[in-house]
Amino acid sequence: MSLIEIKDLKVHYPIRTGFWNRITDSVRAVDGITFNIEAGETYGLVGESGSGKSTTGKSVVGLEKVTSGSILYKGQDITKADNRRKLDYNRDVQMIFQDSLSSLNPRKRIEDIIAEPLRNFEHLSKDDEKLRVLQLLDIVGLDADALYKYPHQFSGGQRQRIGVARAVATNPKLIIADEPVSALDLSVQAQVLNFMKKIQREFGISYLFISHDLGVVRHMCNNIAIMNRGRLVEIGTRDDIYNHPLHIYTKRLLAAIPETNVNQREAHRASRLAVEKVYQEQQSKYYDDDGEAYPLVQITKTHAVALPQALAQQLATQEGEVQA
Ligand SMILES: Nc1ncnc2c1ncn2[C@@H]1O[C@H](COP(=O)(O)OP(=O)(O)OP(=O)(O)O)[C@@H](O)[C@H]1O
Ligand SMILES: [Mg+2]
Repeated sequence: MSLIEIKDLKVHYPIRTGFWNRITDSVRAVDGITFNIEAGETYGLVGESGSGKSTTGKSVVGLEKVTSGSILYKGQDITKADNRRKLDYNRDVQMIFQDSLSSLNPRKRIEDIIAEPLRNFEHLSKDDEKLRVLQLLDIVGLDADALYKYPHQFSGGQRQRIGVARAVATNPKLIIADEPVSALDLSVQAQVLNFMKKIQREFGISYLFISHDLGVVRHMCNNIAIMNRGRLVEIGTRDDIYNHPLHIYTKRLLAAIPETNVNQREAHRASRLAVEKVYQEQQSKYYDDDGEAYPLVQITKTHAVALPQALAQQLATQEGEVQA
């Protein structure tokens, strides 16, 4: 059994208009997505801004009301609050938020911020609690004097590490990491990612790693889902996604990874323009008449793409992939 099984999940937000404030339409932020997260793995969820990644992440921690579909943990549907309570779900699944400054209470000291989940779930003595908070600061590479400071007294990278410390405080099984490094400089990004990997090795945590950048996800994730306007357009292993991408949207995201090697910049620009040209010319092949992504079809045991069967097969053959 997978650690988490997400089945046909939908989250629609009502749009209200007019004098009577009636519901006239809805934003289909998440529109029928299905994927599993295995114990101990880092699963990547990647897509452009507004594709529904944070909404998915918040649904998985139980912070968002789900319109339909299910999220199974230990075989039980945690979209129901009763099951979350019964399974200690809120302790086992934690979240690192996209924006570290607004997600850490500015009026609380770091000691209280990190101790908060411990106070909710562990009921330690004052001394044991302090010891545990000090351990957690040490794990994420911050000094003990951080205890008495406030969030604004730290840099973005340090704040993100405080978010990591708080998230691991209760020894969770899964952490939803929503763009954990997007606001940071490249050098600091690597530091925080390394901490996250180290913690994963030590504690056997799974991550749902959310990002808009396939470059960041590459060295973190074994399996990746590509999200486009509320739907998944491609799912695969790292090798499937980076070496045999099939959907034009995935190819565009790959072409958008910044090139750091100066000598390669011109070639990189040319390939980006070529992908963009294919996208403009052939878009209608990749989406249905309403501009929606197609249902996923399985190409190999690990690789699925949202295309009509015939086109998927044709592209897979060109890529040298064969039907399993
Ligand atoms: N509370 C809400 N009410 C109405 N619409 C919402 C709400 N939250 C999100 N949306 C809409 O749902 C869609 C998906 O939003 P979401 O925040 O999940 O995207 P995202 O992929 O995380 O984007 P980003 O990369 O910018 O963080 C967007 O169109 C957004 O405007
Ligand atoms: Mg988001």
